[in-house]
Amino acid sequence: MQGLEVGTVSDHPGVRRPSRAVIEAVQASCLAVAERPVRLAEEFYASLFEMAPQLRGMFQEDMSAQMQTMTDVLLGAIAQIATADTAELEVVLRRLGATHRTRYGVENVHYGYIGHALTRAVREVAGPAYSGALSSSWIALYQWVAAHMIAGADAVDDEEIAGGQSPVALPEPRAPRDRAAPAVPRLQGTVPGSN
Ligand code: HEM
Repeated sequence: MQGLEVGTVSDHPGVRRPSRAVIEAVQASCLAVAERPVRLAEEFYASLFEMAPQLRGMFQEDMSAQMQTMTDVLLGAIAQIATADTAELEVVLRRLGATHRTRYGVENVHYGYIGHALTRAVREVAGPAYSGALSSSWIALYQWVAAHMIAGADAVDDEEIAGGQSPVALPEPRAPRDRAAPAVPRLQGTVPGSN
């Protein structure tokens, strides 16, 4: 889990907002990978379950919808981080982290696996657009998002976080297990807020 120590955050002193250069690099790589959404999902899950096969049972058989919603949150985070005020986004991420713990049983250590799988998938899919700097940028963004989710999970007993209304729209919750999920993951063709 080297380079992805996302397990500690107390009022986020160590988790600085990603710099503009980081945001721009991540936006560029999003454009590169958004054209290959199926491959991104395939690479992500192959890498994740190779690293942590014990996590397979947490996910539905068809994981395309989950990949879509997770990517939507990350792309949405990129768009909002680029604006001055991220307070609302932070509230949404804390609530998402709280529900991840209560609904899915996600533990803090799992965030490292997801971060690694995502970074590897971006590397595989971005091809020539990929660089060491790009990898660092993705990790910086992911750490920021994960740190807020973990903070929300750690405060899961706080009713205000777990039960409050979100001021920012999240992607629709995934389809119930008895409803068919889309067979092919959809990724946005452009990064929100990039035009
Ligand atoms: C940046 C980190 C993450 C983001 C942005 C994210 C985002 C999301 C979103 C938006 C959903 C669907 C909304 C919902 O149903 O509540 C979801 C579902 C889910 N997430 Fe995450 N997530 C993250 C990290 C994790 C981690 C670390 C795990 C643990 C392995 C995890 C496991 C799950 C599971 C099991 C589901 C339900 C999937 C299914 O129904 O098959 N997520 N995630």
